[in-house]
Amino acid sequence: MRNVTVENITDVFSAYFGDDADPRSKQVLSSLAKHLHAFVKDVELTHDEWRKGLKALEWAGKLTCPERNEFVLLSDVMGLSSLVDMVNSKPDVTSSSVLGPFHVSNAPPLEIGGDMRGDFAGEVVLVEGTVRDANGAPIPGASVDIWQTAPNGLYSSQDPAQETYSFHGLMTTDDRGRYAFTTVRPVSYVVPDDGPAGDILKAAGRHPWRPSHIHFIVEAEGYHSLVTEVFAADDPYLDQDTVFGVRDDLVMHYVKQPAGSFPEEFELSGQVKEEYSRVDFDFKLALI
Ligand code: BEZ
Ligand code: FE
Repeated sequence: MRNVTVENITDVFSAYFGDDADPRSKQVLSSLAKHLHAFVKDVELTHDEWRKGLKALEWAGKLTCPERNEFVLLSDVMGLSSLVDMVNSKPDVTSSSVLGPFHVSNAPPLEIGGDMRGDFAGEVVLVEGTVRDANGAPIPGASVDIWQTAPNGLYSSQDPAQETYSFHGLMTTDDRGRYAFTTVRPVSYVVPDDGPAGDILKAAGRHPWRPSHIHFIVEAEGYHSLVTEVFAADDPYLDQDTVFGVRDDLVMHYVKQPAGSFPEEFELSGQVKEEYSRVDFDFKLALI
């Protein structure tokens, strides 16, 4: 096309596809161009704004390394990661939610009833539940990969004072599909806001806080893997998660238990004399 115009550029983009372009790439790229072009026309994007956008991507590239992926964070704060999660979600099972950048693979095994709190101070929380299929039947032998922040709001990979696998554990459900562990109550925390994702938050007048949560990857043979996180019902940021990760079914309650009622069969049995909290949360997995 010799005469590319504001009106025809989107059609011209699609017309330039070669015969060997694969149909799905064609569909995704045409639609992406259509929406990008519409966005430029809608806001009448200036050269300065376009350059600013490219500079932000360049900065994200410079910040990105094995310990930090600024592109993922950009996707998170724009709601893109959560939207991809939601459009791919399976009906009648537990909602998925953002993985985030702080999961450390190959966590050490955590026995059922094991403790993740270690020497950290803070109220003990007993978390337990069952991994089930969509009909509610328990799934024995499912793997439950668990991680969260320390009481200072930092993940182990952000905090030189923590061991690599601090507040990480990998559990296998028992013959009743049950998992159970103790930890400390996680806290609300801020996502890194010293890069372009932080600039977007500032430009939008938004804060960088996430409501407190515990992350889980639940996997079992024959089922879709579930990457999710479970939030506290009383967290002040529940309705303003900066990465849009909260879903109704992922909200759970910390229920206070009286001093002296800590159960047997936990690593901490006999050591917790004071009040503690209990959380009961079941996961439902979708069949492949
Ligand atoms: C997290 O929950 O660990 C997380 C998710 C998105 C961005 C930053 C952190
Ligand atoms: Fe997190």
